[in-house]
Amino acid sequence: METGKGLISMVNWAKIRSDFPALKRIINGHPVVYLDSACMALKPQQVIDAMNDYYEFYPACGGRSIHKFGEEASNAYTEARHKFSQFLNAAEEKECIWTRNATESLNIVAHSLKLPKGSKIITTSLEHHSGSLPFIERARRDGLGIEIVMVQPDGTFDIEDWKAAIDRNTSLVSIVHSSNVTGTIAPLKEIVEIAHDSGALVMSDDAQYAPHHPLDVQELDVDFSAISVHKMCGPTGMGVLYGKLQHLKSMNMCFYGGDTVSDVRFEDGKILPTYLPPPEKFEAGLQNYAGAIGAGKAAEYLQAIGMHEIEKYERSLLEAALKRLCDMEHVHILGTDDINIKTGLVTFTVDTVPSAHDVATFLNDELNVMVRSGWHCVGPYHYQMGIDPKKGTVRASFYLYNNRDDVDIFLSGLETLIEASK
Ligand SMILES: Cc1ncc(COP(=O)(O)O)c(C=O)c1O
Repeated sequence: METGKGLISMVNWAKIRSDFPALKRIINGHPVVYLDSACMALKPQQVIDAMNDYYEFYPACGGRSIHKFGEEASNAYTEARHKFSQFLNAAEEKECIWTRNATESLNIVAHSLKLPKGSKIITTSLEHHSGSLPFIERARRDGLGIEIVMVQPDGTFDIEDWKAAIDRNTSLVSIVHSSNVTGTIAPLKEIVEIAHDSGALVMSDDAQYAPHHPLDVQELDVDFSAISVHKMCGPTGMGVLYGKLQHLKSMNMCFYGGDTVSDVRFEDGKILPTYLPPPEKFEAGLQNYAGAIGAGKAAEYLQAIGMHEIEKYERSLLEAALKRLCDMEHVHILGTDDINIKTGLVTFTVDTVPSAHDVATFLNDELNVMVRSGWHCVGPYHYQMGIDPKKGTVRASFYLYNNRDDVDIFLSGLETLIEASK
């Protein structure tokens, strides 16, 4: 059912919604309005079933045991990597490393990539803490330079700032592809070109981009990408690190042990390991087989609907929400309202209510509307915008299982709160 950009949607979104059991719940007489997918996406029955099948029918170790359960687990694990590499359009399956989350993917690159002495890492003021802190700590550890490119107040980047920042001494750029606060999408392809012209590598934080837009790592030519599987209808505790094979091969390992070696000889009282190439060199020990199987299923599920379709549908919900929100007195939206460069989320403050948590609490208590409040692990941008991180901001994020009723219930609830708080 993969459909191209611009075609009339053939997707039955009501049917898609019915795939998500959590949305069938009625709490205190109200349906659930789940608008926190940028934090954690709900799981479709297909993903739950795939994982349950593993636990129920072949809960064995992949890659080691030669018995029937072991063989089935190995096959399912290999198949999952295959599905995920297709989802990203990676050139090779071994370029997809299973991790625990996007944070781990970012840390592996930050701490294991060999970077020239005295070189400089660039990151931005819009990064999630997981996209900036690992690189700041790496720079501190090795005495490398660090430069912060400032995002514009509306969440967009000025390409001239990138041209000015990236020079021949830059070894690595870490940039959030789509922000979890403003929802803005960075001009990644242009930034990659500028970086590569100077010999720098690019690490893209795709935690928010991959679940909502078609992601083609070859087309973008990024060197690394960090993905959060739990934000794309997959299981918790799963992430992916994509890396170009040549980089993965030359990187240091971070964990050593079982399954990372082809041989461990014992000669003259010495233990002499021979390590495996990627992906095994990054996947030490017994793996999260159910998690990988669920990740593969989630990738397959989203691809079958079509990432262009999902992007278009979410933008239609975002547009409807923004139309009403922009006219609401006392509401201040962070970031641009240009839906064409935005992921399906909106973040805002309400100046008649003391803190973002009060807004989230009211919506949750009165209407089962679940939004996120806080600083969303993006302290620097909140400080840049003069927003007290303790008061925080409210974020409503949309996904393929939301509908117009969700948008309306959320906004009517917000209007009621604002009216009462004046
Ligand atoms: C932009 C961005 N990067 C990184 C992360 C961290 O993802 P994970 O929880 O998978 O480590 C998040 C999570 O919210 C995010 O939104």
